[in-house]
Amino acid sequence: MHIKHTLNVDLGDRGYPIYIGTELLDQADLISRHVNGRSALVVTNSTVAPLYLEPVQKALDAANIRHDELILEDGEQHKTLASVEAVIDLLLTNRHDRNTTVIALGGGVVGDIAGFAASIYQRGVNFIQIPTTLLSQVDSSVGGKTGVNHPLGKNMIGAFYQPRCVIADIGTLNTLPARELSAGLAEVIKYGLICDADFFEWLEDNIADLSNLDQDMLAQAVLVSCQIKARVVEQDERESGLRAILNLGHTFGHAIEAVMGYGNWLHGEAVAAGMMMAIDLSIRQGWIGERVRERSSALLERAVLPTAAPAEMTPEQFLETMAIDKKNVDGEIKLVLLNKLGEACITDDYDHELLLQTLSA
Ligand code: NAD
Ligand code: GLY
Repeated sequence: MHIKHTLNVDLGDRGYPIYIGTELLDQADLISRHVNGRSALVVTNSTVAPLYLEPVQKALDAANIRHDELILEDGEQHKTLASVEAVIDLLLTNRHDRNTTVIALGGGVVGDIAGFAASIYQRGVNFIQIPTTLLSQVDSSVGGKTGVNHPLGKNMIGAFYQPRCVIADIGTLNTLPARELSAGLAEVIKYGLICDADFFEWLEDNIADLSNLDQDMLAQAVLVSCQIKARVVEQDERESGLRAILNLGHTFGHAIEAVMGYGNWLHGEAVAAGMMMAIDLSIRQGWIGERVRERSSALLERAVLPTAAPAEMTPEQFLETMAIDKKNVDGEIKLVLLNKLGEACITDDYDHELLLQTLSA
């Protein structure tokens, strides 16, 4: 297949292409043409390195680009300032100057760490995203949010920093554990719910093929997801309003992740349950009907995703974690809810009593 789709994120001089296809890592020129100077650092992890580091190294060798590698330990628990410091240490030790390029090869954890390090090293160096999970191909590699977790809150330290390009090789999804593929499908389904009822219907028709790793279908799902995300980010790069709709289910989801312990519930799994909670509250508010719940729950179940929060979580635990969400203003918990299937709103104008009912349900 090779490059099947090229999509541009239109952000003026911070704009960039997203390449979607297969065997992209073997196209040496695709990577090297986006490297700035004569040096690069590839940041990856211990799971992805044995699978996909070699072609990236070969691409850099072919273009005579000096390169170093940093192989982080795998896991959300390593998305910390200590990992960012490890990236900076290596860049400094090996004398990478402001012309260097940081290349993130891996899922959202690697991308978020490497992107943040690139944003602060010598006040910002060139950065390339090579996402290898479905979640990172449809969400985290696009749009420029980078950062790490603080013990008191997820993604609380970071920067907006756009990559030079995104290379989404669908073939890398063949080695992804099924549970991680499902977690990525949660974010894909999110785009249908918030912006595009036709895409939601397309997902209902094709979810089995996506779960079975049909490459054409996956490329199409990544394309539409990135188109929706790019459209939102182009209008509101730094999340002063609209961009927050991309967080449907995330306020509830972040609480689930934090309370259950990072990594025990995958981000996408927590978002799936969180989206059902946002739908539940939207129904209680009278904004959408039961049919949206039925269709969403059926689709998430077919994607092998949870449709409810863990039974042991209390409303108090939710409220405590939700209180430190980045969307909140002056202590008010802002939520992304649905006006209808395919249209979201960001609001603090909901009935607090109904929220408590959702959290208790
Ligand atoms: P991840 O990076 O932890 O990857 C999931 C697992 O898959 C890891 O064990 C990883 O090593 C492994 N893996 C990666 N590629 C593989 C492959 N091709 N084959 C086999 N195994 C592979 O998780 P993720 O779901 O990619 O990303 C989640 C992270 O992204 C969270 O930290 C979340 O906060 C963040 N995120 C950021 C944004 C953003 O806009 N920056 C958006 C959404 C999520
Ligand atoms: N994942 C939400 C955003 O990028 O804004």
